[in-house]
Amino acid sequence: MRLTRRTFLGSAAATLALPRVGHAAVEELRPSPVNLQILPPDYPTTDVWGYGGMPGPEIRLPQGARLDRRLVNGLAQPTTIHWHGLRLPNAMDGVAGVTQDSVAPGGSFDYGFDLKDAGTYWYHPHDRSYEQVGRGLAGALIVTEADAPEVDRDEALVLQDWRMQPTGEMVEDFGALHDMAHAGRIGNYVTANGQSYIARDLPLHARLRLRLINAASARIMQIVHSGFAGWTVAEDGHPLEAPVALPDVLVLGPGQRVDVIVDVAATGDATAYLGLIEGDSAAVLYEVTPTSAERDAALAAPAPLPPNPLPPLGDLAAARAAEVRIEGGAMGGMTAARADGVERPMQDLVEMGLVWALNGAAGMPDAPIATVSPGETLRMPLINDTAWPHVMHLHGHPFRVIDGDRPAGPWRDSVLVMPDTRTEIAFRAEEPGDWLFHCHMLDHSASGMMHWVKVA
Ligand code: C2O
Ligand code: CU
Repeated sequence: MRLTRRTFLGSAAATLALPRVGHAAVEELRPSPVNLQILPPDYPTTDVWGYGGMPGPEIRLPQGARLDRRLVNGLAQPTTIHWHGLRLPNAMDGVAGVTQDSVAPGGSFDYGFDLKDAGTYWYHPHDRSYEQVGRGLAGALIVTEADAPEVDRDEALVLQDWRMQPTGEMVEDFGALHDMAHAGRIGNYVTANGQSYIARDLPLHARLRLRLINAASARIMQIVHSGFAGWTVAEDGHPLEAPVALPDVLVLGPGQRVDVIVDVAATGDATAYLGLIEGDSAAVLYEVTPTSAERDAALAAPAPLPPNPLPPLGDLAAARAAEVRIEGGAMGGMTAARADGVERPMQDLVEMGLVWALNGAAGMPDAPIATVSPGETLRMPLINDTAWPHVMHLHGHPFRVIDGDRPAGPWRDSVLVMPDTRTEIAFRAEEPGDWLFHCHMLDHSASGMMHWVKVA
């Protein structure tokens, strides 16, 4: 008898339903359509896609622990889960069509790997992500240090950007060419952990560690603050060598994270808040109403976070360089690019939904940017020849911005590259496999800004 996939899945499900002695059930992440309050409380609810609530359940595990999750697809389209920013085996990276087959509706996939690095990471689908992330699929993944700085409160803020109608309907215009060729699908409403804003009552001088995650498809978030005194301690999960005083504006491109440690310092009737710049005003994302102090004065400045066990960058002067030239988009003047291995004029590309190119290739090319061996250092000068900012993200390998032969920035996994600028990054290759390098403005990656590096 021929065994079809459906029969096979059915019998597998039946087996799983039997109680198993001595085996804890694997926790599930089940993306599915769900109706939730997304707009402020006095508005109607919205049909979104979520892993249960909004955002997805926060995964919080100690450094060195193993993460095990079963993806069970409750959507009507295939999906995967990508663990953004983590160093892990390539087969666990969750990239549809590259590191795994996409998981069909009703199907499942088991992810399991060790958490090497502490910090603030996140998870999201890596199939049609411009739609799936845009409809709400994202969650925080927090890996805690054994030796964490003392704080009164530690919380992640997953920032999501929605294109909404006042009736509560989401504007369902995913994949529109105009958005793709411009700044991406920027919404008109930003939430923090699925709410219009978060309000807390905390004592004056209370110390908070806030982990901001930009889970938007396209919006570069500029976050101002008032009534907090503090420091930036980590970017994209990785500790800064030393805490730096909180800047007036925190800038987070899509996919990027920042950890801040802040003390409630607002006095009188003032509140302490983080606000998102929108035009010439700021919308409150997180607000603390100070209550009476439980300590006489603010705590002393925090020590640096313990560094992650990253391999050193190695000898930059001796390292190979592989340039990445970013072209295309509106006002970019791109006239042709390769797609599916064929050089095509712009008009044909547009018909294929492709408007950007990396090194002359629009969409995932057959050959990588470079093939590097494990342990090798690769420099990548990124040349933005477009009229738009991009946030370039490398899978599986934290990198640093470099200046000549010296590191010039912290470890991170996504970097904003402004129009008509050149930014050079370098990383040390580790796990073998095909690792994506793409723009994390998800409409941009879907319309051409998708490439890869081979480690072999
Ligand atoms: Cu956050 Cu390739 O992804
Ligand atoms: Cu981009």
